[in-house]
Amino acid sequence: MCSLWRGSLLTLTSSLNRRVFQCCRQFGRSYNIASCMPEAVAFQGVSDHSGLYKFSVNESDRFWGAVARQRLSWISPFHTVQNCDFSQGKIKWFEGGKLNVSVNCLDRHVHTCPERVALIWERDEPGTEVKITYRQLLELTCRLGNLLKRQGVRRGDCVTIYMPPCPLAVASMLACARIGAAHNVVFAGFSSEALADRIRDAQSSTVITVNQGVRGGKVVDLKRTVDQAVQNCPSVQQVLVAMRTENTVAMTDRDVPLEEEMMKEDVVCEPVAMDSEDVLFLLYTSGSTGKPKGLVHTQAGYLLYTSLTHRYVFNYHDGDVFGCVADIGWITGHSYIVYGALCNGGTTVLFESTPVYPNPGRYWEMVERLEINQFYGAPTAIRLLLKYGDEWVQNYNRSSLKTLGSVGEPINTEAWEWYHRVVGDGRCPVVDTWWQTETGGICIAPRPADPEAEIVPGMAMRPFYGIKPALLDTEGEVLSSNDSTGALCISQAWPGMARTIHNHHQRFTETYFQPYPGFFFTGDGAHRSKEGYYQIVGRLDDVINVSGHRLGTAELEDVVVCTIKSHQIKCIYIALRTQPKTPNSKQCRCRSTIIIMCLPKTRSGKIMRRVLRKVVERNTDELGDLSTLDDPDSVHEVIRVPQLHI
Ligand code: PRX
Repeated sequence: MCSLWRGSLLTLTSSLNRRVFQCCRQFGRSYNIASCMPEAVAFQGVSDHSGLYKFSVNESDRFWGAVARQRLSWISPFHTVQNCDFSQGKIKWFEGGKLNVSVNCLDRHVHTCPERVALIWERDEPGTEVKITYRQLLELTCRLGNLLKRQGVRRGDCVTIYMPPCPLAVASMLACARIGAAHNVVFAGFSSEALADRIRDAQSSTVITVNQGVRGGKVVDLKRTVDQAVQNCPSVQQVLVAMRTENTVAMTDRDVPLEEEMMKEDVVCEPVAMDSEDVLFLLYTSGSTGKPKGLVHTQAGYLLYTSLTHRYVFNYHDGDVFGCVADIGWITGHSYIVYGALCNGGTTVLFESTPVYPNPGRYWEMVERLEINQFYGAPTAIRLLLKYGDEWVQNYNRSSLKTLGSVGEPINTEAWEWYHRVVGDGRCPVVDTWWQTETGGICIAPRPADPEAEIVPGMAMRPFYGIKPALLDTEGEVLSSNDSTGALCISQAWPGMARTIHNHHQRFTETYFQPYPGFFFTGDGAHRSKEGYYQIVGRLDDVINVSGHRLGTAELEDVVVCTIKSHQIKCIYIALRTQPKTPNSKQCRCRSTIIIMCLPKTRSGKIMRRVLRKVVERNTDELGDLSTLDDPDSVHEVIRVPQLHI
């Protein structure tokens, strides 16, 4: 069965992937692992990155114990590194330990470098950025923490945050962490229904929002969306409203003017000593299939994992400017704009705008102006910008760039090459980072800090320290040899993984641990090359089965993008049939093609394939929940356009 996972198209994509890039030149050929990861001194016999990786999976307790002691500031030490049992979906790390996440992200840096810039708020209008130092961010966080306490928020409560990327949003997240409340950040582009669903599920009594958002030159009435949402949320007692624009909005008795009230509060707020396994936040998955799940992440393990991956996947060093252009409403924003970056004392960019505002040079103009060293974005934006031509990139000085990252979906070969050759001038490693809301942090990615490592375009490459991937076939057998394709699972626990689904532990175990007993099941398919490198094939529920050929949507999309060069066509939506060629090799042919100008995508850029499927099945009355769609008109276009039979 397993060989059928690999359609003939994969062979084509693999042949495009042959070019191999050496990851990193900065260490030269000889290096000392201890200078790269200080903890490695304690690991006897470990002298290079591959030795360190083996140690991290074989001696998981020793590895994570040493890293946790070295990297986090503890109020009380932990007594047990891990206590995990996949059969019950039980995941516990660093039990007995107490710490405060906001102290790790703020206070300890304020002690050593109070005037270092923590946040660069890249506001919608280019050239109007605002810089916030660690000292200022701690003050904002403490005032907000005190205000939340005054409003009755207690340890264990869950505060919903509906704000665009801005310093007060980050301070709100950290204020929750400081006083022991959990947060539930909802992407500030979601509809009032999607917001209400998430507030109700989290049972929040407090919502934090802004009067209006500003994005791509347009003003969006976010407070109005909150007003509509809370009408159907009896748990909500107060809405704290920050002023992003100068326009006044109608305030009710329930509403609290945030800046005005926080200025009355003290700049000192005593951090609560939290247990390692107390909840840090809930984050609802974007829901391209089924009902959104409120994934739960906890304190110590999550913080440790995001800071370690931020350091080593991006090769982040003190003084670098980290530019992740995701929204804080996604896990990418939580893990790399906020927690990983701040835990490392980094300078991190909060991007409020869009890749094409005021023009398609926006990202690169920002890279030049802010001197960004690590740029982390999504393939969907890279593909969009590629179509506008190289000049938009080349107009700007990008010599500050050291590492380019990609996340969220497979990056097709053409986009990867363009990112590497044009954006990075062929000198910056491109790290295609595979992970999920559930994994908390990056699990498979090249490691540019490793001078031995190579990078193959379009491949996520290697597991991170402590991550032991496995590929399983449909019978549940582990595929132990290289050059195989199967369901991507992870065979042992790591500190960053989600602990449960809020109020639905059974759904958690059923979704992630029961499909392949003994493994965490990711829902994605992957191919492991002859060399042992991983390539993500796409969601398994998106795999198209054509006469026994299981074709991943990533493979198909890559081939289509490579074959069709017209920049006018944004999307082709193809129905397939296979044609036998010889008994052992089958070839795919398109039976029908639908050419449309835009696909129904969620706000995080994922194609809502269930909608496409329903349209093809002529089942347009059952499209399901569309409230998280980026552009609801895209569905009408898919329905309207006739299928072209070829
Ligand atoms: O299918 C994989 C895809 O995005 C899914 C996770 O989505 P979400 O929880 O919204 O988190 C996105 C940001 C981490 C995965 O199951 N995905 C993510 N990164 C990649 C990817 N697919 C291919 N290559 C990637 N680098």
